[in-house]
Amino acid sequence: MTEKRENWGSKLGLILAMAGNAVGLGNFWRYPYQAAKNGGGAFMVPYFAALIILGIPLMLCEWNQGRFGGKYGHGTLGPMVYLQAREGVKPRTAAIIGGLAGAIAFSVTVLLNGYYNHIIGWTLGYSFLSLTGGYMDKAVDTGAYFVSYIQDPTKVIIFWLIALAILGFAVMRGVQKGIEVVAKIMMPLIYVFGIILIIRTLTLGAPVKPDWTPIAGLNYIWSPRWSDLNWTSALAAAGQIFFTLSLGMGIIQNYASYLKADDDIVVSGFATVSLNELAEVIMGGSIAIPICYAFLGPEGMKSGVGLSFIALPNIFRAMGGGQLFGALWFLILFMAGITSAIAMYNYLVAMLEEMGLQKKLGSVIVFGLYIIVGLPVGLEPILTKTADLAYLTEVDNWVGSYFLVVLGLIEVIATGWLMGGKALEEMNRGGYWKVPQWFFTLFIQILTPLTIIALLIGSTRDYYKAGYLKLIPSFVENSPKLIPWVQAARIVMIIVLIAGFIQTYRTIKGKYIKEIETG
Ligand code: PHE
Ligand code: NA
Repeated sequence: MTEKRENWGSKLGLILAMAGNAVGLGNFWRYPYQAAKNGGGAFMVPYFAALIILGIPLMLCEWNQGRFGGKYGHGTLGPMVYLQAREGVKPRTAAIIGGLAGAIAFSVTVLLNGYYNHIIGWTLGYSFLSLTGGYMDKAVDTGAYFVSYIQDPTKVIIFWLIALAILGFAVMRGVQKGIEVVAKIMMPLIYVFGIILIIRTLTLGAPVKPDWTPIAGLNYIWSPRWSDLNWTSALAAAGQIFFTLSLGMGIIQNYASYLKADDDIVVSGFATVSLNELAEVIMGGSIAIPICYAFLGPEGMKSGVGLSFIALPNIFRAMGGGQLFGALWFLILFMAGITSAIAMYNYLVAMLEEMGLQKKLGSVIVFGLYIIVGLPVGLEPILTKTADLAYLTEVDNWVGSYFLVVLGLIEVIATGWLMGGKALEEMNRGGYWKVPQWFFTLFIQILTPLTIIALLIGSTRDYYKAGYLKLIPSFVENSPKLIPWVQAARIVMIIVLIAGFIQTYRTIKGKYIKEIETG
């Protein structure tokens, strides 16, 4: 590449952008129901263990990979992993490992974001409906209301397109004027709105029954129920760490590729983890769950995925100032989602830039791509008149949960073993703190990869038991209408993986052809 690579404008901008990348729907929508479902306080044990064994080491590896690749002009994962791997294996083998990493990262950024953009659209729609009183009529059932929402083409498509346009616009304006500006506006607002909602939640009193207080809700999520703690909940905790920290996706690396060669990564990586965990364990845990508890009691803890869009609207309309607080809640979700989706969007544009395209044109192409991959997600409920979201579920089971972990394994092996000692040196260059040798050996070389392998074995076993591996997966066995949607999802995933591999392998070969041919 001839032109100079873009850089972050300021340290603050970088940290807020990285926090924006990590803090997403995972914190406010996914975390509360995962914790409630998987043992409350007992969930915190595997959760914090995964944070230390997987989250922190991988975050350091990813910042390292990104800054290292950026030095060679790369913003995508395939070439970054190639550059690391060639320190330890033959260039041809390294190109295949890089190709695999690039293929998985591509499938995550295309397909995960393909449905995530829809959920962002829903949150914008619901912010609007909260303000305008759309679901405030107590005669309507909020569950039925949500179903009719996702089956209403006008609402779904309008808010989805608005979300996509914001993403495209921010990415098109570039790292400093687009991504950084959006993060500087939205991230502080997320924390401010979050604090307002926590205060409102904790002052709810006991509106329904004397012992259904918000504090009892906090108790519910924090007090350990050891009997609910098992292998499956441990897997859920580790999966949540991957998802919430944006690990195994390639997007932390993409943002880190805009660092200068001597910028600190150790403290900045820690800051990203801390800001995300603040927005997850403190804010994600202190709003939705206690509100639900105060109004619905222990039963309300079972609302699962529908917590944000069904249980909470039902409560907002029952509480004082509910229209405003409902809007604040959905705006938090919206901003958290947007700042994460920008990272995925930017990844794909960076990939097109590596192929020689201009940023503007790249942004328009990615806009079109997201319309195509997002279409089945939106069309399924509209056309089948169902609300099972089978296409989304199938994509999420693989791309949003399983692939992240596989990619994490490739990343940590490329860093810890293939690049090895040189990776530690690279990691510590310019660092305000230094990662000690023992941490590198104990975690990045041993504990982190072994834990990821155990996680993969466990998940594969669980997937087998849940019937996800079957030709017709169990969750749609009895709904013939949905089977084609699941099969379509599978075909799309296979195509995207193959295309991603070929594209990455060719990019690597194109740039490093000599050494591959002589190696
Ligand atoms: N870390 C993000 C979250 O918590 C995950 C994500 C990033 C999802 C980018 C989609 C796009 O929501
Ligand atoms: Na997150």
